[in-house]
Amino acid sequence: MEADTTVLKSLTRYAIWRCMKLLPGNPLFRLRAALWRSVGFDVHPTARVVNCARLLGGEIHIGRDTFVGAEVMLTGGKIFIGDNCDIAPRVTIHAGSHAIGPSEHRGGEAYGGSVTVGDGTWIGVGSILVDGAQIGKGCIIAAGSVVIGKVPDNTLAAGVPARVKKKLAPEQQVSTKPATEVKSAGL
Ligand SMILES: CC(C)(COP(=O)(O)OP(=O)(O)OC[C@H]1O[C@@H](n2cnc3c(N)ncnc32)[C@H](O)[C@@H]1OP(=O)(O)O)[C@@H](O)C(=O)NCCC(=O)NCCS
Repeated sequence: MEADTTVLKSLTRYAIWRCMKLLPGNPLFRLRAALWRSVGFDVHPTARVVNCARLLGGEIHIGRDTFVGAEVMLTGGKIFIGDNCDIAPRVTIHAGSHAIGPSEHRGGEAYGGSVTVGDGTWIGVGSILVDGAQIGKGCIIAAGSVVIGKVPDNTLAAGVPARVKKKLAPEQQVSTKPATEVKSAGL
């Protein structure tokens, strides 16, 4: 019975996602948020989740005025994304994982873990957040990072695995360099 309910839930979520892809471009954010709420995800009415972002499973909270970009995938376990966050395109948040099994099957028993993204944080394009990622408030996660653990409030973390690179003043207007100021690749 429980298995039937889970399958039904997954099918409904899949159907909603397919329907959403028929909606035009990126407007109609409130409608999209309402549709995600209708299948059990806690998406704030002011959150802007674009057309092709995919909310697959587990428990998902997306806060007030948070933006979720193209081809973002949120799946497995519990995912909490606070208010005023920016989740750039192609970010993957995968809260589910496996116990490490024996050599004949390393991906052992599956479980739903958790991932948290604090208020005001910006997750750079293509980053991957896995079970145990706990990103504080006001952080920046640089493009292409893999976050596996705790990132303190108001810090910039980067790399694989992501490490804190610098502190950010809470009130700091972080201005990334304009495109004309191209950084040297250091060769
Ligand atoms: C992080 C970012 C914003 C730059 O911020 P910044 O304050 O100018 O950072 P800096 O250039 O001072 O870099 C700080 C450190 O992080 C490192 N770093 C910055 N971006 C990095 C990346 N993507 N991967 C690995 N390391 C990175 C730098 O090499 C530097 O390391 P060091 O101190 O060991 O030399 C930018 O690199 C980035 O990743 N932007 C994301 C763009 C994006 O997602 N766009 C989609 C639109 S929503």
